[in-house]
Amino acid sequence: MATRAFPPSIHYQGLNAPVRMEVDVRDLPVEGEIPAEVAGAFFRAVPDPAHPPMLGEDDNVLSGDGMVSRFTIADGQVDYASRYVRTARFEAERKARRSLFGSYRNPFTDDPSVAGVDRTVANTTPIWHAGRLYMTKEDGRAYRVDPNTLETIGAWDFGGKLKSETMTAHARIDPETGEMFAYGYEAAGLASRDISYFIVGTDGELKSEQMFEAPYTAMVHDFAITEKYAIFPLFPTTADVERLKAGGAHWVHQQEQPSWIGIMPRYGSVAEMVWIEGPAGVHAYHFMNAFDDGGQIQLDVCISDTNAFPFIRAASGIDRHQSTVRSSLSRWTIDPAAKSITERVSGRPATCR
Ligand SMILES: [Fe+2]
Repeated sequence: MATRAFPPSIHYQGLNAPVRMEVDVRDLPVEGEIPAEVAGAFFRAVPDPAHPPMLGEDDNVLSGDGMVSRFTIADGQVDYASRYVRTARFEAERKARRSLFGSYRNPFTDDPSVAGVDRTVANTTPIWHAGRLYMTKEDGRAYRVDPNTLETIGAWDFGGKLKSETMTAHARIDPETGEMFAYGYEAAGLASRDISYFIVGTDGELKSEQMFEAPYTAMVHDFAITEKYAIFPLFPTTADVERLKAGGAHWVHQQEQPSWIGIMPRYGSVAEMVWIEGPAGVHAYHFMNAFDDGGQIQLDVCISDTNAFPFIRAASGIDRHQSTVRSSLSRWTIDPAAKSITERVSGRPATCR
């Protein structure tokens, strides 16, 4: 069967239109002059679906195959290269010349021929640490990529040490110590409540990994590290394996459920975790900063009054147009001893477009 066109949805049009080309371009045009001090490589990750989705519009751009790009800057010149990450999923579909994986993060909708095949697409963030380049997506382990050739080395479990089945795309590297702090949610399998918290040393070796159970199975897209603490924010966009088995959506936002912030000493034990109840129904994807402030923690967050993704709201029965979703840069002052959170809006509240 010949390859069909991509469906005419927002997920495959405009900025999201698949490129599907791996290229090398020398000497990109430069406006102005690049200072001589600027030299090195800038890596970028994007989703770039190699095949039209198997189930048509019942999928989205977040499932697109990971494409790693590199801008190499030297002597005022810029060269560009891009390669697909050769994930197990990419290789299986390339061989079949079509999509074999069904709905976003629902393996029960896949073609039977790929049962058990790693579904991650390594499309979210390139992470550079200890001389290694990782391509990440939060639903699976990171893939290592050779930074010089952009060839895929393979899924990485830190030499067999990592127990977590997943790794965040938003690991934190401490600029003082050089350590990488990371976590994986749904760490013990699909829709599991288990979260793995792990630390990677400056030599790239896994130094510690601890598992803990979250109050509910939430999308934990980002977290924060301060000098003293590791902070795990849970917002009520939740997963349920029975819903997945019935062919339903991975994520449903529960507007009435509270958020929870888990805080532990960053070198401590997960047994020391303190859970603090936060406002109900809110959601955040990213944190701008976090720091210790006496006995308190200041956490800067872009907070929305519901989940900002339309496809998640649609699956949740939340009938709100994107233009009505209110988001703002806010500072949460957290007092772990008093188990309190105080919110102050830092920026002008805005709506999504
Ligand atoms: Fe992100």
